[in-house]
Amino acid sequence: MKDNHLVDMNIHQTVRLSLVGALMLALASCGSDNRTPGRTFVPDMAYSQAYETYTKNPSFGKDSLGAVDSFEARLPVAHTIARGLLPATNIGDDKVLASYLYKTHYANTDSNYLASTNNLKNPFQPEKEVLERGKYLYTIHCMVCHGEKGLGDGSIVQTQAYPPVPSYADRLPTISEGQMFHSITYGKNLMGSYSYVLTTDDRWKVIYYIQQLVNVGPFAKNTATTTAAAPADSTATGN
Ligand code: HEC
Repeated sequence: MKDNHLVDMNIHQTVRLSLVGALMLALASCGSDNRTPGRTFVPDMAYSQAYETYTKNPSFGKDSLGAVDSFEARLPVAHTIARGLLPATNIGDDKVLASYLYKTHYANTDSNYLASTNNLKNPFQPEKEVLERGKYLYTIHCMVCHGEKGLGDGSIVQTQAYPPVPSYADRLPTISEGQMFHSITYGKNLMGSYSYVLTTDDRWKVIYYIQQLVNVGPFAKNTATTTAAAPADSTATGN
């Protein structure tokens, strides 16, 4: 009984003391001057340090490769796709999405070049606007080597300043649209990469345009077995 009484007293005292403490804290934080905030609890949260975008920030140290990366401006998280650069359609289709993440998911290897046939798919339909955009880009970026009709006789080749370029009529029937995408993205031998200048959308639009130039893929004249994916086997079973 006695012990309980003592415990009760202690609790009461603690409560009372805490109330007084809280009151004092509350009073102390109110200054008489309305223009200053008075005492501040954890001031560095209220007044945080501001850093200029391109200055060093000591909160950041070395990156995963050991290089010093203390820039205030941080890189986006790996595999981030910038706003507006996602496919407009068929976003749920893995083969479509893969091309929008191509460089972060598939390195430039021979096996990925081969696998691109099954991994990738053109998200667009070969419609008028798509082909117009493809032609526009082709004229600017590709025609100088591949030539107006894709014969490999572009102006730079004609001056003989550049070695011969294969004709699309020979090459495109032997490769898939995925392989075209891989080569345009990473470049191939003497041809450079175009991923720095063509968005994923634009690369696919150019692909339709060059397929149309030589009637392959969806533009194949005979509609049987011509997805260009499989090596031209034979026409024996065609109708
Ligand atoms: C500087 C000259 C040059 C330019 C510009 C150029 N190419 Fe090429 N392209 C080549 C050469 C050379 C090859 C043959 C590469 C090889 O197989 O060795 C080639 C091959 C290709 C192939 C076949 C790739 C494969 O996997 O076999 C495609 C598709 C292609 N180019 C598309 C394009 C497109 C689309 C553009 C414009 C965005 C373009 N090229 C711009 C020189 C060029």
